[in-house]
Amino acid sequence: MCGIVGIVGNRPVAPLIVDALKRLEYRGYDSAGVATVEARELDRRRAEGKLVNLEQRLADQPLGGHIGIGHTRWATHGAPVEVNAHPHFSDNVAVVHNGIIENFRELRDELTAQGFSFSSQTDTESVAHLVASGLKAGLSPVEAAHAAIDRLRGAFALAIVFRGEDDLIVGARSGPPLAVGLGDGEMYLGSDAVALAPFTNRIVYLEDGDRAVLRRSGFNLTDADRKAVEREVKISVGSALLADKGNHRHFMLKEIYEQPEVIGHTLSHYVDFNERRLALRDLDGAPAGIDFAKLSRLTITACGTAYLAGMVGKYWFERLARLPVDIDVASEFRYREPPLSKDGMSLFISQSGETADTLAGLSYCRSEGQAIASIVNARESTMARESHSVFPTLAGPEIGVASTKAFTCQLSVLASLAIAAGVQRGYIDQATEERLVSELAEAPRYTNEALHIEEQIEALSHRLAGKKSVLYLGRDTNYPLAMEGALKLKELSYIHAEAYAAGELKHGPIALIDDEMPVVVIAPHDRIFEKTVSNMQEVAARGGQIILITDAKGAAEVGMDEAQVIVMPDVPEIITPIAYSLPIQLLAYHTAVHMGTDVDQPRNLAKSVTVE
Ligand code: G6P
Repeated sequence: MCGIVGIVGNRPVAPLIVDALKRLEYRGYDSAGVATVEARELDRRRAEGKLVNLEQRLADQPLGGHIGIGHTRWATHGAPVEVNAHPHFSDNVAVVHNGIIENFRELRDELTAQGFSFSSQTDTESVAHLVASGLKAGLSPVEAAHAAIDRLRGAFALAIVFRGEDDLIVGARSGPPLAVGLGDGEMYLGSDAVALAPFTNRIVYLEDGDRAVLRRSGFNLTDADRKAVEREVKISVGSALLADKGNHRHFMLKEIYEQPEVIGHTLSHYVDFNERRLALRDLDGAPAGIDFAKLSRLTITACGTAYLAGMVGKYWFERLARLPVDIDVASEFRYREPPLSKDGMSLFISQSGETADTLAGLSYCRSEGQAIASIVNARESTMARESHSVFPTLAGPEIGVASTKAFTCQLSVLASLAIAAGVQRGYIDQATEERLVSELAEAPRYTNEALHIEEQIEALSHRLAGKKSVLYLGRDTNYPLAMEGALKLKELSYIHAEAYAAGELKHGPIALIDDEMPVVVIAPHDRIFEKTVSNMQEVAARGGQIILITDAKGAAEVGMDEAQVIVMPDVPEIITPIAYSLPIQLLAYHTAVHMGTDVDQPRNLAKSVTVE
């Protein structure tokens, strides 16, 4: 993963690089570093941990130079310690890297035999030495970079600077994204356009295999065969403002509270509330040219929370539109290479639009001739560019590593698409469409009401804090929601949590239940409420501590004194997964706050996972 930046400018660049890295910290925060060329000499500052540590290091020992590269790391090879922090140096070369060099062992052996000595455990250091070995052999810096890149296997976005060269950065992309930013007398390189937003909005995205040579006066691109290529200059709409937490203690809490508004924005993109009809629109706001009636099957692929949104979507597409849905996590899907239905469509869901496994799944489906649709939050992402139809979530930038508002916006899009599919396929008549649209229109109000139970949830979260393990149960669309609840709890509080379809409890997990085990049950009063209540009785009979999230009717009917009950507003079935997301997010959030973990940047995680 990791985020990379390069600037060839006409002012001191270290502070600018740090500014850009702040926007890339979502890609990893195990360590950070900057290298510059000043008076023809290479120098660097690196620091373990979050970017603030690097800022402190630079305040103590400033770094001059009008050209430089920077990095924020999510560790793959080697512990997250300073010696493994980028930039990595060889004799005359400094390199930052996002990705994994798969043949680094072979390269390391070869370069060690040539006399290079390695000071880190990273795969990246071999790139620096490889470029240096080309320089030693008499190649020019650009030629040495090309020759080294030719030898690399794996996934990489690279930025390279050279001792003695204060007007040259070489960049390369094979897999992870890389963008060139065009300034006036300055040129920039970055993992995404948002990183470069303070400097320029004129962006050129490298295509897979492209290499870039940047100088103050301009840049040129070649493909992997070193043939000159031209790529379109795009105007980025990414904001130069750094998001801030406002009055909230954490970005995550701010984003939880933004949900009523962003769900409303997102739904308005797909629904004509005046006419009470679906009106699907694409990324640019034009009517979406998608015909669900012609589809034989939908194949959904995603990772993490986005995958769980897709699982809720499967229930909706199958129930409302009788459209068969296959769904898998992208890391399995990409290597499983399943046969895909003729007349099928593949749907990819991603907040960042840059998740490596999901993009690999997309490439596979494209190569199989499938129509490609995506639900994406980052509209300038690789996924948005590579899809035939793009359905945006209008969640705005999500900074908290644990996804919240992106998830409920993904659900909002999926609900809209599933209803539209039901209409197009003849399973939803006009009256039903109007009813469903009126219900969707209530989603912002109900999510807002759900926020009112925060105090009660905070009190309950004391019961989870410090526990060894927590079980989440649900049926139907509340089963993926239970999975999302368990995922949120473990990623934020580091408490082990697992989710089961409530009916599956008796087939094994019930053995775990004792009086130390909290069990969170998500069960609005729906057609299968009673079934879930029976499963709860089974838990109660074994001493499990039940936290039930239900509505007033469910609370009245449950009749179990031993359960702690969180009473939600009485919401229509179609928006249940959206509204019930809030208590599970808040429960995980407050448990983590009690435990004192880093809510916005939990250990070992990154927001955008650009390695497989
Ligand atoms: C990471 C994030 C998750 C996210 C997942 C998929 O694991 O921490 O919050 O759900 O990646 O990311 P995407 O950007 O594809 O939605």
